[in-house]
Amino acid sequence: MIFIWAEDQSHGIGYQGRLPWHLPADMAFFKKTTTGHTLLSGARTFQSYGGRPLPHRKNLVLTSQNADQFPGDVVVLPTVEAVLTYERQHPEETLYVSGGAQVFASLMPYVQTLLKTRVDGRYKVDTYMPPIDYSAFKKVSSDTVAVDEHNPVALTFERYERQD
Ligand SMILES: NC(=O)c1ccc[n+]([C@@H]2O[C@H](COP(=O)([O-])OP(=O)(O)OC[C@H]3O[C@@H](n4cnc5c(N)ncnc54)[C@H](OP(=O)(O)O)[C@@H]3O)[C@@H](O)[C@H]2O)c1
Repeated sequence: MIFIWAEDQSHGIGYQGRLPWHLPADMAFFKKTTTGHTLLSGARTFQSYGGRPLPHRKNLVLTSQNADQFPGDVVVLPTVEAVLTYERQHPEETLYVSGGAQVFASLMPYVQTLLKTRVDGRYKVDTYMPPIDYSAFKKVSSDTVAVDEHNPVALTFERYERQD
C-alpha cells in the first residue's frame, strides 16, 4: 500500500476536519496519482470529501460504523485486518491510503511506499502526521514546484520506498 499526503513544516496535515490550505498543484497531483486506482480513507477524511466517494476511484473507508451509514458504492472495512485481507484479495489493485492521521498510524507497519508533499510553510493545524521511521525507507525521487500565481508556497513531491 501507498500513503499519499501533504504536510507542512510542523508535520501538520489537517485543521477542523479539513485541509489547512488550498493548494491546486497538490490537489492536481493527488487526483492524477489516485485516479483509476483504489483509495482508502478514514471516516473523518471521507466526511471531508463531502461524505461521497471521490470519482473515478474505488473508495474504501476504514470505520467502526455500519456500512449502511455510507453510500452503497463505498467498500466499508471495519478493522486493519480487513484492510490487509482486502489488499491480499485484490493484488491487481494499487491501494492508496489518503489518511487521515488515525488511519496512517494504524497502517504504518504495512506501508511500502510514501508519497509525501512537503508544503513549505506553517499553517494553523490540529492534526499531525504520525512519526515515521525514515531509516526504514529510501528516498527515490524529489521534485519541487516553485511558488506561482496559483500556489502561494513551494511544494516538494517526494517518493520513498521501504527497504526490506
Ligand atoms: N494533508 C493531508 O494530506 C491530509 C490527508 C488526509 C486527511 N487530512 C486531514 O486530517 C484530518 C482527519 O484525520 P483524523 O486522524 O482526524 O481522522 P481519519 O483518520 O480520517 O478518520 C478517523 C476515523 O477513521 C476510523 N478509523 C481510523 N483507524 C481505524 C482503525 N484502526 N479501525 C477502525 N476504524 C478506524 C474511525 O472511524 P469511526 O469513528 O467511524 O469508527 C476514526 O474515528 C482532517 O482535518 C483531514 O482534512 C489531511
